[in-house]
Amino acid sequence: MSQKIRAAVFPVAGRGTRFLPATKASPKEMLPIVDKPLIQYAVEEAIDAGATKLVFVTGSSKRAIEDHFDTDPELETALKDAGKDDLLKSIQAIVPDGVACIYIRQGEPLGLGHAVLCARPAVGDEPFFVHLADDLIASDVPCLTQMAAEYERHGGGVIAVETVPPEDTSSYGIVAVDEADNNRIVRIVEKPAPENAPSNLAVVGRYLLPGAIFDKLETTGRGAGGEIQLTDAIADLLDDVAVYAYAFKGERFDCGSKLGYLKATVAHGLEHPDTGDAFRKYLADVIAR
Ligand code: G1P
Repeated sequence: MSQKIRAAVFPVAGRGTRFLPATKASPKEMLPIVDKPLIQYAVEEAIDAGATKLVFVTGSSKRAIEDHFDTDPELETALKDAGKDDLLKSIQAIVPDGVACIYIRQGEPLGLGHAVLCARPAVGDEPFFVHLADDLIASDVPCLTQMAAEYERHGGGVIAVETVPPEDTSSYGIVAVDEADNNRIVRIVEKPAPENAPSNLAVVGRYLLPGAIFDKLETTGRGAGGEIQLTDAIADLLDDVAVYAYAFKGERFDCGSKLGYLKATVAHGLEHPDTGDAFRKYLADVIAR
């Protein structure tokens, strides 16, 4: 049987320049979708998949993330005194008992691969999840839980993928797979131009990686955009460890873009028990104008 995944790494050091000025003084991962910040959706997904060690690779101006996952006795007392038990429960349940948060600073903005390498002292040599909070995935079974089940079937590494329009390959890691072997990845390239792309199967922000990736990251030079790319370290790993592409079930919202963020807000606003009915009516009225 495969090893249980206990650690989840959240690279959250990026400045979120696409959302300036909103992200000038607050982290992009704290942008809310209805009433929860993106990073809380990420953490809930990892906990659902069994993670008990949450490793945040942070940078300057990201302290709000630590505060969000910390206790707040003053707020708890105020909510208790006001009889707002539901709200009290909702803030107390953010990090359940038995789950630890670990914060590591990424001193220099050297890319996703470097961010993941920064988590090594907290993760050790175990297999672990990497979750990019920008990619919000709505699904019946959370995406990391789907991937953990896939890992149970064949071990190795698992990377979530989805088909993108061929002209968009330069925004993603792109894989070529062996369909006869459980979609094992035979090639992975970071952000290739459409004419150089091995397919239009794109990596989305969910990875289940073996600890062996860290040794690869130690020697991965700078790649696309002058950054140390996780994709390049995965390419190095393919000869040693089978890594599988997994077409997750669900809908991905690219919350790193304004349009994707708005779509996520609409989708979640329609589903949310507090807003769903009234919001549906409002949207119908807007469309009828
Ligand atoms: C990162 C990865 C890329 C992946 C993408 C998914 O890129 O480097 O391979 O496809 O996340 O969101 P970024 O979006 O950080 O530029």
